[in-house]
Amino acid sequence: MNINLQQNIQLNDYVSDFRADIFSGLSNYPKKLSSKYFYDKIGDHLFQQIMNMPEYYLTQCELDIFKNKTEQIVNAISKGIESFDLIELGAGDAMKSSFLLETLAEKRTSFTYMPIDISGNILSVLQDSLSKKIPTLEIYPLEGEYFDMLDKATRISERKKVVLFLGGNIGNMDMKETIHFCSELKRKLNPGDLFIIGFDLKKHPQTILNAYNDPAGITASFNLNLLTRINRELNANFMLEQFQHYQTYDPISGACKSFLVSLCDQTVCIENHRFHFKENELIDMEISQKFSRQDIRSLAGNSGFHIVTEINDSKNWFVDSIWMI
Ligand code: AVJ
Repeated sequence: MNINLQQNIQLNDYVSDFRADIFSGLSNYPKKLSSKYFYDKIGDHLFQQIMNMPEYYLTQCELDIFKNKTEQIVNAISKGIESFDLIELGAGDAMKSSFLLETLAEKRTSFTYMPIDISGNILSVLQDSLSKKIPTLEIYPLEGEYFDMLDKATRISERKKVVLFLGGNIGNMDMKETIHFCSELKRKLNPGDLFIIGFDLKKHPQTILNAYNDPAGITASFNLNLLTRINRELNANFMLEQFQHYQTYDPISGACKSFLVSLCDQTVCIENHRFHFKENELIDMEISQKFSRQDIRSLAGNSGFHIVTEINDSKNWFVDSIWMI
């Protein structure tokens, strides 16, 4: 399969539900906005800054795995699989997976890299940087929601699939959604396909809270930027200084959650709709779920996978778990 590098960013067939989701989220009680909408151009940039913060240990942990334990990942993939599609859900800038891609390319493995992301902006950046770094790489970017694009990937090719879901992206779902997600993914794959999934483990609660509550306020800006995006794209009038970021971590459930607090009674107009906020009313913005090793085993079992192997970083703070049907 030869794919033209320049022609395959799917710009037009991703129709966003942005407006409908924002309206329904702000009509709920408690009010809720989806963190998947954080990633516009500025959001992408802020997340890059977050990944570079010393408090945000997740980057270094998973980089440790992908840089120093690449062979283990490659061995797990190569066992019984000759040619495949490597599909990355929420690829972002592929900082971690690029080490895997390089090693696979060096070994002349036959595969196509299919990064899926909701941000078309980051996909074009990614395509540019990867084709420079690994000129022989076959890359086929897919812009849109995970499952829509996974269906598309399945229609395009019948090869074996290796699905990557890194960075603790799974944490952005609550536990119920997570089980549903893994079960749905399993239905879309075939026996022998692999699912490589990164989990941020439970650890000292302060370490976790610090990663999401940085003193420089980058995480706060990352949250507030969604209000800016709504102002711009939906012609709204959120006053950013009247909302404040508030972060929590519950070490029992493992839920690390971010909120925006309305600092006063206020009404926000979005298009010609009015949304009222009481003083101290919350907008539920994001969950970053943390897992125990038992949580991971149960999740794999309950969604119909078995664990092939697990690769830990040197601190044992993060795990990339390799699952098969
Ligand atoms: C991109 C979902 C892995 O939850 O850790 C970072 C996003 N939010 N800081 C995470 C995020 C606040 C991040 N993920």
